[in-house]
Amino acid sequence: MCGIVGFTGRQQAAPILLEGLSKLEYRGYDSAGVVVRDGDASAEIVKAKGRLKVLSEKTNGGEAVPGTCGIGHTRWATHGEPSENNAHPHSSDDMNVVAVHNGIIENYQEIKDKLLKKGYTFYSQTDTEALVKLVDYYYKKYQVGPIDALAKTMVRVRGSYALAVMFKDYPGEIYVARKDSPMILGIADGESYIASDVPAILKYTRNVYYIGNLEMARLTKGEIEFYNIDGEIIEKELTEIKWDAESAEKGGYEYFMMKEIHEQPKAIRDTINAVVSDGKIDLSSVGITEEQIRDVNQIHIVACGSAYHVGVVAQYVIEDLVRIPVRVELASEFRYRNPLLQDNDMVLIISQSGETADSLAAMREAKNRGIRTLAIVNVVGSSIAREADNVFYTLAGPEIAVATTKAYSCQLVACYLLALEFARVRGTLKDNDYQEMLRELDTLPAKIEKIIEDKERIQWFASKYVNAKDVFFLGRGIDYAICLEGSLKMKEISYVHSEAYAAGELKHGTISLIEDGTLVISVLTQQELYEKMVSNMVEVKSRGACLMGLTTYGHYNIEDTVDFATYIPKTDRHFSASLAVVPLQLMGYYLSLAKGLDVDKPRNLAKSVTVE
Ligand code: AGP
Repeated sequence: MCGIVGFTGRQQAAPILLEGLSKLEYRGYDSAGVVVRDGDASAEIVKAKGRLKVLSEKTNGGEAVPGTCGIGHTRWATHGEPSENNAHPHSSDDMNVVAVHNGIIENYQEIKDKLLKKGYTFYSQTDTEALVKLVDYYYKKYQVGPIDALAKTMVRVRGSYALAVMFKDYPGEIYVARKDSPMILGIADGESYIASDVPAILKYTRNVYYIGNLEMARLTKGEIEFYNIDGEIIEKELTEIKWDAESAEKGGYEYFMMKEIHEQPKAIRDTINAVVSDGKIDLSSVGITEEQIRDVNQIHIVACGSAYHVGVVAQYVIEDLVRIPVRVELASEFRYRNPLLQDNDMVLIISQSGETADSLAAMREAKNRGIRTLAIVNVVGSSIAREADNVFYTLAGPEIAVATTKAYSCQLVACYLLALEFARVRGTLKDNDYQEMLRELDTLPAKIEKIIEDKERIQWFASKYVNAKDVFFLGRGIDYAICLEGSLKMKEISYVHSEAYAAGELKHGTISLIEDGTLVISVLTQQELYEKMVSNMVEVKSRGACLMGLTTYGHYNIEDTVDFATYIPKTDRHFSASLAVVPLQLMGYYLSLAKGLDVDKPRNLAKSVTVE
């Protein structure tokens, strides 16, 4: 999704904007632009289609646009094709108002029609141009200051926005407004920053403010004032970002994704240690009480993409351990289907970014119905984290690669911990088993390290399939849930068509797609389903499939059936997803690498999907 960076202070703005935008590249974009203002001089806009490198060359690394106040943007096209013309910043014709925007203005056509009647002309196909010109219109019509003009605009528009604006009459100042799109504001000595995400400004400051929905702010050099929609000043608390700057850098790895795969053991350990001490889970930081846990009748898990796949694993684990009904659903479906929710239900939202538009909307739907919401979130201060009744933070640190790995793994662990604690409180798990499972959970980081040590074997196998057109993933039970994630990893970064199937479902249609040489990856970590899985594998092999088998050490007879076997350490059957997913992450990574693709920034994808 679009990325925004802004700066006002003593230093030259353009190099800071370009560097900040480079840290937001992972969000996905197709064009970029900056506007910089030198004192009272008029603002200068430079835009470019394609990679940031083009913008950097056009501005000579920022030197060609001098000035100490500016805003920059990477655009992920929604309204209008990727082009220089549609790239941000956008401005009113007289450059009175210049702005960048992340989000979607749903009623932009209506606004545009109104402004056309008032004599405005339009040069782009974007919703943002209509938004910018509406600010200009109110500013001039009512002869008000920037905050009032923005407030009138916010009342008139529908949709989502993180908006950063510079006004001709207010040199050295940046104004922002926000609704449902991420934005943080940073402050340092004599300098103020805005950004869509922390990594963009982490080099300059760790002191940030989170701006709320329907709020505005005015940034001057080293000072930030916040306003509500009535234009009244409001107080905000400064938050210190704990991430160190290095965790947002590649640290010697070729791609963030590989670095993040390697960070999984530590991320999982940190997430466990945050809530487990002295052999006991303590959810006081989550804020959920034993009484509330006892009262839950049903859990609805809502999430998107990989977070949804975590939910599919969690459904198996929670139902088995806690014996309460769990329904897992895509947030984009849940939000519009008028779900049946009862008073004592709980909605569990899983999201790395905490900003995914559908997950946020699904959570609000549940809250509006008076249902308790518990969110598993990675990004501190994100919208979902702020609005959920209870938050379980995963401690994955910043995840930059579009394809999630360490956040997914931490989400799994958070779900296991919730399942264990719910089971203990509700008496569905014996104390001995609870203790044993907690001890086993503690061994997962070391077991993942062992799997990663063997990564070259996966690389060798992946390189043989560089021209694969279709890949099928087969599994049963939790293994099916793992397949969903393995298949997504392959699709999103290797651009190989892949499908995950519950192995028992194969005969009901999909098997007709298997032909000579089709790669089928089977996951067999569930002992009681092992034999059935082998039968399914034999079925596809006899139709010409090339088979990869992913199972636990000890099941060496799998080599009689498969062309390539890979093994993971044994663990409690409920936790096997945490281990089995790692070879599949590596498979997606190495296939992408062998194809010469940009592993961290796959085409058409955004890290955090903040629009519907
Ligand atoms: C997975 O690799 C993707 N990046 C994507 O499916 C992601 O999990 C999904 O968009 C949900 O994001 P969230 O966890 O930030 O809500």
